[in-house]
Amino acid sequence: MASSFLLLLFHLFLVRHLPLSAANLRETTSFFRSQLISEPPSAVTTPTIFFEVTKPIPLPETKPCSYLALQHDFAYTYGKPPVLAEYNPASHCSFPRKPAKIILEWTAACRGRQFDRIFGVWLGGVEILRSCTAEPRATGIVWTVKKDVTRYYSLLMSNQTLAVYLGNIVDSTYTGVYHVNVTFHYYPSEGNYVASGAGSNNLDDSGAGLILPISRNLPLNDGLWFEIENSKDSKGAEFKIPPNVYKAVLEVYVSFHEDDEFWFGNYPNEYIYANNLTGVAGNGPFREVVVSLDGSIVGAIWPFTVIYTGGVNPLLWRPITGIGSFDLPSYDIEITPFLGTILDGKDHNFTFRVTNALNVWYIDANLHLWLDKRSQKTRGKLLEHSSSPLTLSLFSNFTGFDGSFVTNVSRSIVSSGWVESSHGVITTKSLQELGYSNFMSLGNEGDLQILHQVINLNNSIDTILSSAFHLSAISFKKFGLHLHSDSMDIGNGTYVSVANVTLAIEEKEEETSASASSSSRLKNVQNGQGYMLVKGNIVVSGLGSTQQEYHFIGDESCYFRNVSSSNYTILHDEQRDSCGYDKRWTFPAQ
Ligand SMILES: *[C@@H]1O[C@H](CO)[C@@H](O)[C@H](O)[C@H]1NC(C)=O
Ligand SMILES: *[C@@H]1O[C@H](CO)[C@@H](O)[C@H](O)[C@H]1NC(C)=O
Ligand SMILES: *[C@@H]1O[C@H](CO)[C@@H](O)[C@H](O)[C@H]1NC(C)=O
Ligand SMILES: *[C@@H]1O[C@H](CO)[C@@H](O)[C@H](O)[C@H]1NC(C)=O
Ligand SMILES: *[C@@H]1O[C@H](CO)[C@@H](O)[C@H](O)[C@H]1NC(C)=O
Ligand SMILES: *[C@@H]1O[C@H](CO)[C@@H](O)[C@H](O)[C@H]1NC(C)=O
Ligand SMILES: *[C@@H]1O[C@H](CO)[C@@H](O)[C@H](O)[C@H]1NC(C)=O
Ligand SMILES: *[C@@H]1O[C@H](CO)[C@@H](O)[C@H](O)[C@H]1NC(C)=O
Ligand SMILES: *[C@@H]1O[C@H](CO)[C@@H](O)[C@H](O)[C@H]1NC(C)=O
Ligand SMILES: *[C@@H]1O[C@H](CO)[C@@H](O)[C@H](O)[C@H]1NC(C)=O
Ligand SMILES: *[C@@H]1O[C@H](CO)[C@@H](O)[C@H](O)[C@H]1NC(C)=O
Repeated sequence: MASSFLLLLFHLFLVRHLPLSAANLRETTSFFRSQLISEPPSAVTTPTIFFEVTKPIPLPETKPCSYLALQHDFAYTYGKPPVLAEYNPASHCSFPRKPAKIILEWTAACRGRQFDRIFGVWLGGVEILRSCTAEPRATGIVWTVKKDVTRYYSLLMSNQTLAVYLGNIVDSTYTGVYHVNVTFHYYPSEGNYVASGAGSNNLDDSGAGLILPISRNLPLNDGLWFEIENSKDSKGAEFKIPPNVYKAVLEVYVSFHEDDEFWFGNYPNEYIYANNLTGVAGNGPFREVVVSLDGSIVGAIWPFTVIYTGGVNPLLWRPITGIGSFDLPSYDIEITPFLGTILDGKDHNFTFRVTNALNVWYIDANLHLWLDKRSQKTRGKLLEHSSSPLTLSLFSNFTGFDGSFVTNVSRSIVSSGWVESSHGVITTKSLQELGYSNFMSLGNEGDLQILHQVINLNNSIDTILSSAFHLSAISFKKFGLHLHSDSMDIGNGTYVSVANVTLAIEEKEEETSASASSSSRLKNVQNGQGYMLVKGNIVVSGLGSTQQEYHFIGDESCYFRNVSSSNYTILHDEQRDSCGYDKRWTFPAQ
């Protein structure tokens, strides 16, 4: 029982030491092994470059203007206010034409011993990046995250306050200071450069004219996100929209920590009660972020299982980091059908809660609003709105510490409404269908944990102006997780762990209208195998090996990468960006 992978929680913030003795494992107040870091002996003298596999951002062939907006050394920053910088783009770059692309580049260097730290970057209170730091080595590491932030265009063109919260702790043991540069690159448009895909809706081409933060207010000492601490907790903020909005999308940023860092492997409560366990993370393995507008549910987010750089076995993520760990996904919820109810010039609110939550979830959101340039006032009406209650089934079969559990959940949310603007009367219909299945098996007196989890997300958004203008955007997403984790306490505060993990994202997106259509497919699969000997919270020895295959097929670009590493060394790395190759795989892969 002492050492399923749940014990390997790498708490991001608090330095806690919870020594376990083999004699009283089952009575101990906590099974968590907090704060694992590793520093294997190494002959390397140059910094190791860490990276996340993702496709290159398509860029116009123009010369960018680059602006280093923040340079900071994050030493003892835990619990301090975010680091602020003035963002004055026009003082550093001139914009004779509207930039076609704006790229945020985060570059950081670190040396020594340090944990993984979650951080956020906000511009004018609007979150533009949620990420996790890489864990350094004695010989130093560097890494770069590039993100296409063009969707925040309306914010990026004016003076703002740039804020970064990265809670780091530096002392004689944890010596790593993160040296960080945040740079913006503005790419002017080419004469013939098309900023968006073939099927793009001409109504959207100007982008959101206004982005309202749904985040905590300055000044803060612990980030601008809300902290959701349990399943009853509900946090949110009021907002008011201008009178001429014709389209609205809520973008939600989510990350999970401490007792919910590995929510997908949390034990069902009946198992915890039956075994008299205390201090273990429970509430079962299902979580969803529920988004409400004025108290009624408008969206549900079933997040991708991002594993941070200290998670499961820190050696797995060096130098190829886990999917999403350097650039956590954000999740969009269509709000246009509800405009009729919020275009009244009054205050409204968005609130967030997390089904089954344990401490702690960091959540905030950005409300992207498209403004009608040719009218002072738009109006609308909600036609249909229903959110099916969650259907959750739990099958469990266990004796003592061993057994198996199946958790299946589904939900759907439908909304439709019309908005009248200078574009005409447009009806928007949004459908979210979510499916979840988690199989958990526990063996070897609870030391062995096997997880298979699949989340299916089907979204469609229909935009109907007339029979001649009907745009349909459909997306299918599948998030997969497989984890096999076995460990053994060998006494004296030491244990061995063997863990194999698979993370997978598959996506298919299609946009069709009477005049055009576009589609893209992504399959991104990562496999890792690791073992380690852990004493206290230090990985004394071990090995991590990772293989990743990334396939993207779009109408205009394709990308393939096949890369593997072991013991910090890249073994194989193959990349292609031509489209003429492997179109064999289909979605969804079984
Ligand atoms: C990993 O590489 C280091 C040298 O960089 C070597 O000393 C160590 O033995 C290797 N570990 C394994 C398990 O192969
Ligand atoms: C933006 O900031 C710069 C530098 O502080 C200042 O010179 C400029 O006047 C500001 N622009 C606006 C529109 O406030
Ligand atoms: C940050 O930028 C400065 C100035 O260009 C450069 O000297 C430094 O090496 C950069 N740091 C990182 C981590 O890239
Ligand atoms: C749990 O505790 C209760 C009350 O102390 C005891 O009767 C029961 O046997 C214990 N069960 C296990 C599995 O230890
Ligand atoms: C949000 O609105 C709902 C319904 O009007 C209300 O019950 C709730 O207290 C409000 N929450 C916040 C944080 O303002
Ligand atoms: C429960 O698990 C036991 C032991 O693995 C097995 O023999 C039994 O068939 C299982 N029962 C059900 C209903 O699956
Ligand atoms: C849960 O869902 C899976 C996958 O859809 C299915 O194979 C399984 O039979 C379901 N199990 C239960 C107990 O509902
Ligand atoms: C999503 O769509 C696929 C293909 O139509 C279907 O097989 C699957 O059951 C759907 N999933 C959900 C959660 O609705
Ligand atoms: C336990 O650890 C202590 C301190 O690291 C060491 O002195 C002792 O020899 C170890 N005992 C065993 C049985 O390994
Ligand atoms: C874990 O991966 C290693 C290396 O590929 C393999 O030898 C081992 O069988 C795997 N274990 C499990 C339980 O999948
Ligand atoms: C990826 O590379 C591995 C060798 O490292 C190879 O076995 C595998 O077939 C490759 N996958 C594809 C799709 O090319």
